[in-house]
Amino acid sequence: MVSVSRPRRWRRLFVILAGLVALLGLAIGGCVRLVYVNAVVSTVGRAEFGTELAIPPLAPSTVRPDGTREFELEMRTGVTEFRPGQATETWGFNGNYLGPTLRARRGEQVAVTVRNQLPEASTVHWHGMHLPAVMDGGPHQMVQVGAAWTPRWTIDQPAATLWYHPHPHGETEKHVRRGLAGMFLLDDEVSEKLPLPSTYGVDDLPVIVQDVKFRRGELDMSHAMFRDVGFLGDQTMVNGTLTPYHEVGDELVRLRLLNASTARVYTFGFGDERQFSLIATDGGLLEGPLALDRLQLSPGERAEIVVRVRPGERTMLRSNKLDAGLNFWTQRFAGGDDTFDILELRAADTLRPSPELPAALARPSTPDGSDSVQERRFDINMAGINGKPMAMDRIDLAVTRGTAETWIVHNNDGMPHNFHVHDVQFRVLGRNDGPPPAELTGPKDTVFIPPNSTVRLAMRFAGPADPDTPYMYHCHLLWHEDQGMMGQFVVVEAGGSVGEPPRHGH
Ligand code: C2O
Ligand code: CU
Ligand code: CU
Repeated sequence: MVSVSRPRRWRRLFVILAGLVALLGLAIGGCVRLVYVNAVVSTVGRAEFGTELAIPPLAPSTVRPDGTREFELEMRTGVTEFRPGQATETWGFNGNYLGPTLRARRGEQVAVTVRNQLPEASTVHWHGMHLPAVMDGGPHQMVQVGAAWTPRWTIDQPAATLWYHPHPHGETEKHVRRGLAGMFLLDDEVSEKLPLPSTYGVDDLPVIVQDVKFRRGELDMSHAMFRDVGFLGDQTMVNGTLTPYHEVGDELVRLRLLNASTARVYTFGFGDERQFSLIATDGGLLEGPLALDRLQLSPGERAEIVVRVRPGERTMLRSNKLDAGLNFWTQRFAGGDDTFDILELRAADTLRPSPELPAALARPSTPDGSDSVQERRFDINMAGINGKPMAMDRIDLAVTRGTAETWIVHNNDGMPHNFHVHDVQFRVLGRNDGPPPAELTGPKDTVFIPPNSTVRLAMRFAGPADPDTPYMYHCHLLWHEDQGMMGQFVVVEAGGSVGEPPRHGH
């Protein structure tokens, strides 16, 4: 029997332990490295874009004798074949996936009957719309299973590309991911007179961009490791079409881009780096077209661009790497290194001539900050807004009907966020210490805010006053919103104060 002295035994134990720790370290390091390397996705040049782009139908409407334009939306479950022969369970409005395009004109009274045939309660929010708080479709206007809800309001804002989607507190990411989203287009006397491409589905295209991931044929909505922005897919689709192309028959084509993804930021451009003209942002037309070759859209943002094509050519709308000053870790895990082919435009051999874009489009409709009666600061991070997570029974602030305010929103988090305000369109007065980039000077309701940056926003609250029913402001990365990066405000008459938020059963 060999006896080993104590110190030697300890030393041997120590060597073994140190070896194990080192191995573990290497293994973890190797895993992290593998996760990091595998976290980047690109579909650029990978696939033939051979599926004709689906165009959401224009929703039929009936005009009542009193002039009210009535629409009907039914939220239902369905099955979609994104790939031929492969059935995927989805949700949609009046169909299996996404919803029809609603369209109305400034000055019209509209009423939309929303029926809920889903297995769970939900809501429909009119993103970008100026309307009374009880019609807003936020988390206080739940539509129970089997129930119907008919909000009505008068369209009182400039022509714009708006959209609608569910807003049930804590469940919004899932409901939108399953397919509940659609466009709501507004026209006015300015937009109708401008010689812009405007034949829906022909030279004026809805382009609803979503990232998606499939697992055994079903939508995979899980959040991968280190993805603290929420769900990120590994491919994209437009209007629910994978690898889409659209046949263009006109020299100029207008794309109404909507980032309907729940966490991904796109940096649009064309494969051949051609320029395009930005003509409108979230809330409507710019003062004049702006020539760009890149355009960043974070979740919830819209933009209308016009691009010129030459006979017989093909060009790819693409999403490029994100340029937002993120550190290498966040850049990778927030999807910033990912690139996608989005939509191929195939120009016909002979094109109908399009009129030149007008140099002047619309007059500014958002306040310039000079008559703001109040300045407020919002620090946003994953813990909430100004340190507080959303609470349904807490109204965070009251604004006075008819006044303008300046909101200063600062992202003091390590990850990207954005900021959306219900009911209003705002003007971005500045970003960090400088003026906003030109592409942010149009009317906006959602704005991207990378880590450690600040935006200054001016907006006017036209009312009506309702001290008891709040509107929301929140991060539009929908998982963040679900986690509580949201607050509530009410519009009150001068001298009024916050009322009683609605009480909800259970
Ligand atoms: Cu598009 Cu509060 O949402
Ligand atoms: Cu909204
Ligand atoms: Cu966020």
